[in-house]
Amino acid sequence: MANENTVAEALARHVSVRDFTPDPVTPEELRAVMAAARGASSSCFLQVTTVIRVTDEEEKRQLAVLSGNQMHIAAAPEFWVFCADYHRNAALVPDSDLGWTEQLMVACTDAAIMAQAALSAAESLGLGGVYAGGIRNHIEEVDALLGLPKDTFPVLGLAFGHPAYRNEVKPRLPDGILFQENRYTEAPKAALEAYDREMNAYYLARRRNPRDERWSDGLKRILLRERRQFILPFLRKKGFALK
Ligand SMILES: Cc1cc2nc3c(=O)[nH]c(=O)nc-3n(C[C@H](O)[C@H](O)[C@H](O)COP(=O)(O)O)c2cc1C
Repeated sequence: MANENTVAEALARHVSVRDFTPDPVTPEELRAVMAAARGASSSCFLQVTTVIRVTDEEEKRQLAVLSGNQMHIAAAPEFWVFCADYHRNAALVPDSDLGWTEQLMVACTDAAIMAQAALSAAESLGLGGVYAGGIRNHIEEVDALLGLPKDTFPVLGLAFGHPAYRNEVKPRLPDGILFQENRYTEAPKAALEAYDREMNAYYLARRRNPRDERWSDGLKRILLRERRQFILPFLRKKGFALK
C-alpha cells in the first residue's frame, strides 16, 4: 500500500492478551496511554468518565476474584476501571436533570470509547491487554471497593502490560455481514454457517485451549442464560435509568 497506515494495521491485528511479563509499564508508556485516553471524544463534551487506576495489589486481587476469578487481572501490571461519572458535573450544576436512560447510554459509550483509545494506544506501544466486563459480575461489591458515589458506576475494566503470550487473531464475521449498505439485510444463513466452520477450525487449531466448538455454540452459552439480572436495580440505586 502506498500510504501505510500502521494504526489501522495494528487495530486489525488486535488480540486480547491475558498473560503478562512481570515488567511494569514504564512511566513513559503510562503517560502515552493516559494521553490517548484523555484525548478520546466525549458526547457533548460532558466528560462523564473517570478512570480509576488500581495500584493496590490486594484491591486488584479482590477485583480479580469479584470478576469471576479472572486472575490475569491480579497479575496485570496495570488495571484500570472506566467509570460512568455524572457526580462531578452534578456538583457543578446542582439542578442537573439526571436519571435519564439516554444519560446512561452516553456514559457507557464514552467510557467504552475512552477504554478503546487506551487499549489501542497500549497496543501501538507493543503492550497488550484485555477488557474486563467481568467487573459487573459483582457490580455492587466492585462499586463499594472503588468507593464510587451516587451518579457513578463501574462500566468496564482494562488489564494491560507487556505480553507474555499472544493468541492467534480471532476471525471476525465476514464483511458482507458486518458491514451493510444503506439498509439492514438479514445475514444469509449459508454465510453464518461458513463462519461457524471457520471459527470451528480456529478453535481446533489454536495453540492454547483448543476445543471443538463453533461460534454459535458460544452464543448459546451466553444468550440462553439469564445475565446479571441485578444490574437494573443497582443502576437505579445509583441514580441511572430512572426514566
Ligand atoms: C466490553 C468487553 C468486555 C470484555 N470482558 C472480558 C472479560 O471480562 N474477560 C475476558 O477474558 N475477556 C473479556 N473481553 C474480551 C473478549 O472476550 C474478546 O475481545 C473476544 O473474545 C475477541 O477476542 P480478541 O479480543 O482476542 O480478538 C471483553 C471484551 C469487551 C469488548
